[in-house]
Amino acid sequence: MDLQGRHLIAPLDLTVEEMEGLFSLSQKIIARPEEYAELCKGKLLATLFYEPSTRTRLSFEAAMLRLGGQVIGFSEPQSSSVSKGESIADTIRTVAGYADIAVMRHPKEGSALVAARKSGIPMINAGDGGHFHPTQTLTDLLTIKLEKGGFDGITIGMCGDLKFGRTVHSLICALGRYRGVKFILVSPEELRAPEYIRDEMTDFEEVRDLSEALPKLDVLYMTRVQKERFFNEEDYIRLKDSYILNAAKLKKAKDDLMVLHPLPRVNEIAIDVDDDPRAFYFKQMKNGMYIRMALLAALLGKADLT
Ligand code: NCD
Repeated sequence: MDLQGRHLIAPLDLTVEEMEGLFSLSQKIIARPEEYAELCKGKLLATLFYEPSTRTRLSFEAAMLRLGGQVIGFSEPQSSSVSKGESIADTIRTVAGYADIAVMRHPKEGSALVAARKSGIPMINAGDGGHFHPTQTLTDLLTIKLEKGGFDGITIGMCGDLKFGRTVHSLICALGRYRGVKFILVSPEELRAPEYIRDEMTDFEEVRDLSEALPKLDVLYMTRVQKERFFNEEDYIRLKDSYILNAAKLKKAKDDLMVLHPLPRVNEIAIDVDDDPRAFYFKQMKNGMYIRMALLAALLGKADLT
């Protein structure tokens, strides 16, 4: 399987086989990182971040540097010509003249697709508004795969802001293709998953109460209420602490539950959960770097996926 020259804009841009190929390459990289230290030597990654980021940008940069490549980019759009009114299309044309591959995060839904259409180099969507975030999904899936061995038949709870949470949307689309996956969606009425995402699931239920769902779950995916996507601050304040997972509530959960969170967390996971062996969100964050190494190598044609 060859992903050379492809874009990654939406979670379904990759087939199940291609995703599995990326997971197995990531596992090889985790086992022997030194063997990959020069794989992308001479290649340049551009990181275009129009929205704040810690993990996604730094893990992409670390991934490219650990593959022996180099990185250019901006994380403050005010410091680029965007602040002069330049369009995404023109910025991408420029970047494609300098770099071999680009990753972009932008507040507008669909922006990554617009960029990909104008880009002569592989474009990776690192989040387009409240729409998709496919590389977080690869991170989430790798984390589950490493622990559970696969996805068939799991029951996953998605809790929090299912309306604006792009990581939730992407993960549902990708997981919906595996056999026997059951989704339990836990959110306030106002933050329910949009219909185009609900359509991706064959077996799901929607509940308001986290403790009702908790004992049934193999994986719990907690999310932050996406403050930056609200039109009205009062609504955000009213909804922001809808769900707070803590050690006491976790007593009702299975012993082999995995608690995931794309991070950053605000209040939705109390710090007394961090030392519980079921807390996987810090491992998940680290896996993000390895899967991005695999992805960069594959899109640059430096790794054949088996
Ligand atoms: C997520 C995002 O940007 O959508 N963060 C991340 O990339 N790890 C989740 C969030 O910001 O809540």
